[in-house]
Amino acid sequence: MSARYKSYKYIEDLSKYDGQEITLNGWVYNKTGKGKLQFIQLRDGSGVAQCVVFKGNVSEEDFEAAKSLTQESSLSVTGTVKSNDRAPGGFELDVTSLKVYQIADEYPISPKEHGDAFLIENRHLWLRSSRQHAIMRVRSVIVKAIRDFLDNCGFRLMDSPILTPNACEGTSTLFETKYFDLGNAYLSQSGQLYAEASAMALGRTYTFGPTFRAEKSKTRKHLTEFWMVEPEAAFFDLEDDMQLAEDMTVYIVKQVLANCEKELETLERDIEPLKKVVGGFPRMSYTEAVEWLQENKVPLIQKVDGVDKEIHPFPWGEDFGTVQEEALMEQFDQPCFIYDYPTEVKAFYMKRDPENPKVVKAMDMLGPEKAGELIGGSQREDDHDLLLERIQHEDLPLEEFQWYLDLRKYGSVPHSGFGMGLERTVKWITGAKHIRETIPMPRTIHRIVP
Ligand code: 4AD
Ligand code: MG
Repeated sequence: MSARYKSYKYIEDLSKYDGQEITLNGWVYNKTGKGKLQFIQLRDGSGVAQCVVFKGNVSEEDFEAAKSLTQESSLSVTGTVKSNDRAPGGFELDVTSLKVYQIADEYPISPKEHGDAFLIENRHLWLRSSRQHAIMRVRSVIVKAIRDFLDNCGFRLMDSPILTPNACEGTSTLFETKYFDLGNAYLSQSGQLYAEASAMALGRTYTFGPTFRAEKSKTRKHLTEFWMVEPEAAFFDLEDDMQLAEDMTVYIVKQVLANCEKELETLERDIEPLKKVVGGFPRMSYTEAVEWLQENKVPLIQKVDGVDKEIHPFPWGEDFGTVQEEALMEQFDQPCFIYDYPTEVKAFYMKRDPENPKVVKAMDMLGPEKAGELIGGSQREDDHDLLLERIQHEDLPLEEFQWYLDLRKYGSVPHSGFGMGLERTVKWITGAKHIRETIPMPRTIHRIVP
């Protein structure tokens, strides 16, 4: 028996049915009309189509039903597909009958402007608006691009657990929960440590899932729950890692440009900057970056008694924030790698440079157009004793890292990986003004509903 659902028709395919009578199912996006004509803008998730209800073509009841439709009422409409240059998408439906599922209550989101707070409170409905709808479709294409790219490169998906006994990215941003008789568990900040175990089994692997950070940051770039894709590969050094990150980024942008023309248009995204993302990303060591900041008089900003204080010249050893990242990135129209960071500002698992243990073999990929950090990655410490030293130095609970140390006892090899923040990437590519628009149901410090 053929699948019934396969016979549904969707607005994105309307041109295929020119001249045919079909049924569309959806919601009223907008409605106008007077006298003997009603124009229903129907949306079905794949697009918006104009449906023309002429009194002479439908039953009396159906015409009355069409007149009673309110914004977001749900219905099925049957009619003949006709080309019309003035209709959105070039085709419209000449309605012969309709079936109403529900007449919607007065819809809170009207075409007029609404404040951000109101929209986010109504996120469950806001998702239907054209911009939000477009962003979600781009997000879906980006996820597919990431998976296709890695799958085609020989990486295999191996998901990491979310409930974990320990921290990966430092203890300050952990969400804690009770775990039966075993004490506390934490929501994973990153699947990386488990991805390393997977890489020793499969060679090239990736984990792609939600990660959690109890970040107090209230910026446009931070969520408390976000999705991260984390490839990890045995025998890769930092150079390989950066090249993989670059190739993946170029591939993602290319796929969005090829598959999301309509969405980018809805978002009024200038695609010229995206077209410049073709590879050959600039690379700069942390030390070179600091020299550049010093030459260009970009200070370190530090809060002293709640007041921002500028420190000149930017001191070697401090981490970069938005001010430094944006200043550095003004020179480039492609993403840029900063590598070899000070050991003190980076995570315990990163490999120290044997020639200069003050720096680790780490990289961040910063995006152009003020996108900020899109990727963080590194070569991992593969020496058992050096890793043990770092775990002890950071005062991490040794028992819980025993399995991780084991990986350095049984066939340890150089290996590297990175994490790309999905929402940061979606924000950059779509030009969304806030990261909360890039995930269906954003979680931030002040919001867990809806
Ligand atoms: O740089 P991060 O913290 O790196 C890691 O977690 C590594 N364990 C990844 C690895 O090597 N496998 O995070 C990686 C990326 C950042 O570059 C950023 O894009 C995103 O995750 N990210 C966030 N996105 C949204 N909200 C937050 N609070 C984020 N924190 C990090
Ligand atoms: Mg980082």
